[in-house]
Amino acid sequence: MEPFNHFPHLANLKPNLSFKPMKRTVRPLFLLLLVLVLAATLSSRAIVRRGILSIDLDSRARIRLRPPPLRLNATLLRHAAVQIGEDKFRREVQSLLDGNFGSHARHRTFVSWRRFIHHDRSASANLPATLRSPLFYRYWLDFRKVLHDWFRRRRFQPGIMSELTRSIKVPIDSHNKVVTSGSKYSSCAVVGNSGILLNRDYGSAIDSHEVVIRLNNARVDHFEAKVGRKTSISFVNSNILHLCARRSGCFCHPYGDNVPIVMYICQPVHFLDYTVCNASHKAPLLVTDPRFDVLCARIVKYYSLKRFVEVSGKGLEKWGETHDGALFHYSSGMQAVMLALGVCDRVSIYGFGKSASSKHHYHTNQKAELHLHDYEAEYAFYRDLVDGHRPIPFLEDRFKVPPVVMYH
Ligand SMILES: *[C@@H]1O[C@H](CO)[C@@H](O)[C@H](O)[C@H]1NC(C)=O
Ligand SMILES: *[C@@H]1O[C@H](CO)[C@@H](O)[C@H](O)[C@H]1NC(C)=O
Repeated sequence: MEPFNHFPHLANLKPNLSFKPMKRTVRPLFLLLLVLVLAATLSSRAIVRRGILSIDLDSRARIRLRPPPLRLNATLLRHAAVQIGEDKFRREVQSLLDGNFGSHARHRTFVSWRRFIHHDRSASANLPATLRSPLFYRYWLDFRKVLHDWFRRRRFQPGIMSELTRSIKVPIDSHNKVVTSGSKYSSCAVVGNSGILLNRDYGSAIDSHEVVIRLNNARVDHFEAKVGRKTSISFVNSNILHLCARRSGCFCHPYGDNVPIVMYICQPVHFLDYTVCNASHKAPLLVTDPRFDVLCARIVKYYSLKRFVEVSGKGLEKWGETHDGALFHYSSGMQAVMLALGVCDRVSIYGFGKSASSKHHYHTNQKAELHLHDYEAEYAFYRDLVDGHRPIPFLEDRFKVPPVVMYH
């Protein structure tokens, strides 16, 4: 029996036990005392973890004893690393790089692009923007370069978590004219769009964070008491920008056009929208690093596979049929939480989760969610973050996950 193995940072108490010349009668007493102290520490920790105590995060971080490490399942890790639609994806990127815009969606992008260029009178008065127009050609070259660079960087590299401060926080700070010293934000609120937000008045609690991250342009007007009014980062998927790009000047800023946007690319063709809109944005329009995307995809797939086997009792090879393997994707909310883990010292999550009695979204009347996400798997991931279960699959040991609290 070696109780200290589980609590490495208590190990320095051990010498006291072994070599201090205690009197025989004192030693059992001392042991008893030590056990009591340990028990008290553990139970207070249990209370904190269950959220009964309203949490003082700093003291929580100090007294946190890590639960014994979980063992990751090697089979699940291997399966989670396989990207089912990868070959098709490669072909799609290649054909875009070759200038091959076949489908209807792409055609639409081009039509809106032409319209945009048409609006851009300063640059090209009444230019009949055809494929051969010089302005169009310039965008086209930019598009190819950006897509090419992005695709070349796309691989699994968990160390990317430690680069998020540099790639996301630094440009945002510089836009806000804040001097950064490579430090993280002291606190971040990630605000999801679930209807459960309407059950409480979290508005001022949300706004009290140094940084508030909102998702997919969910509006805050008329919901301020529930969701707050402050937005520091607007996190969107590229479908959102694709819709905005059809408007003149890419105007689509529910939080004001000074709020930086961080966007992940759902379809490579959306770099067309990015190329056009990036130039006209006042605030940074940042595309997530493809290595960050790959990391998020693997983590969610791990949890999805695990849950699939546990709940359905079927084999792993059946997962793809159920979850539309090639289209399966993490949600914007999941990647926004991952971003917060990388750039914040502590993270609060609001408006994530479903409840039978609540609306699906606080701001729309949409009834149900798309099938290409596995929200239950993502909730399992958040629970591991909140409960301090480690390791998180695919995250490096040296990356320290900040404390996470989830508000229901
Ligand atoms: C890992 O997961 C697979 C699939 O769920 C399961 O069959 C296997 O027993 C697990 N391995 C361990 C060591 O738990
Ligand atoms: C996007 O726009 C910003 C500001 O104009 C510029 O610094 C950046 O290089 C652009 N990004 C790309 C990939 O062109």
